[in-house]
Amino acid sequence: MRLLLLGGPGSGKGTQAKALQQRLGVPWISTGEILRQEVASGSVLGHAVRSYVETGELVPDDQMIALIRQRLLQPDAANGWIMEGYPRTAFQAEELDFLLVELKQQLTQVICLDVSTPVLVARSLARARSDDTDEIIQRRIDRYQERTVPILEYYEVSKRLVRVNGDQSIEQVHQAILSAIGV
Ligand code: AP5
Repeated sequence: MRLLLLGGPGSGKGTQAKALQQRLGVPWISTGEILRQEVASGSVLGHAVRSYVETGELVPDDQMIALIRQRLLQPDAANGWIMEGYPRTAFQAEELDFLLVELKQQLTQVICLDVSTPVLVARSLARARSDDTDEIIQRRIDRYQERTVPILEYYEVSKRLVRVNGDQSIEQVHQAILSAIGV
């Protein structure tokens, strides 16, 4: 099973990916988590991406593409994964398709969690991560609308996209995703 979970900031991508990881027995790959760990560890990559993550701007495509390539080459990713927060731009989406062909891996499904903007803001503010201030949340929402929403069409045209109402209870969203992937 190889799933992409897309959605705005606070749509529940991480929450759902964690539950699916347990249910499906495949690793959860979160670009946001990887980047936050790199920043916290003070690595070279962490220094390079810190200003983007802390302000809610997108990390440049070349860095993200290299990071995902490295992650998918890890042995635990050979038999499936749930990826969330990636791709976020048209270029990342195209490059991911090329990488999957090269790795002889096939995408099972792309799930988009649909959640209205006021709910995205309320959930992120309630969570209060360091990048969950009004200004930074708004920037993450703007980047999602400008850069990520257009790629939904890319997956829709190739019949890989399923939209799930993310504005239900966590359990209801989980069940809706399982039903979308036929589990
Ligand atoms: P990232 O961590 O991916 O941030 P995000 O997309 O803004 O997503 P969040 O982590 O805020 O939300 P989520 O959808 O995972 O929701 P969650 O489950 O936590 O990325 C951070 C930064 O890294 C970016 O800003 C960027 O700088 C960089 N980055 C990452 N990927 C990149 C890429 N591909 N390219 C370039 N840059 C990249 O839930 C949120 C809250 O809501 C929680 O408190 C949860 O308990 C609650 N909740 C969840 N579901 C429900 C529900 N159904 N009902 C009620 N509450 C719920």
